[in-house]
Amino acid sequence: MVRRSFSACREDPVNSSSRIVTFTPLGRSASANRDETLLDVARRAGAPLGNSCGGIGICARCRVRVLSGAEQLDQPTTIERQVSEQRDLDPDERLACQAIVCGDCEITTGYW
Ligand code: FES
Repeated sequence: MVRRSFSACREDPVNSSSRIVTFTPLGRSASANRDETLLDVARRAGAPLGNSCGGIGICARCRVRVLSGAEQLDQPTTIERQVSEQRDLDPDERLACQAIVCGDCEITTGYW
């Protein structure tokens, strides 16, 4: 699901960076297309992620823990910040449906 009409990531148009998402401990990985979220990439990689709001950022069932590369995800949206506070997410957790992949990162969940 691409949800923004502009690119959320600063990219060097000449030296396009890698955007590989690794799903641990599933042992799967996939490359993110421009402006794709972690949830988009997880679906393509066959990494099951909970979600019940259709990816609009309100259910928090897609929460993931970022093991590395947190700086490679775009900044949380206003809705993500609000839901994270309401659901008491840890600082290293993100909503996969809201986090756009800008570079390599590794994520996990408690149910993989
Ligand atoms: S799918 Fe509901 S918050 Fe991400």
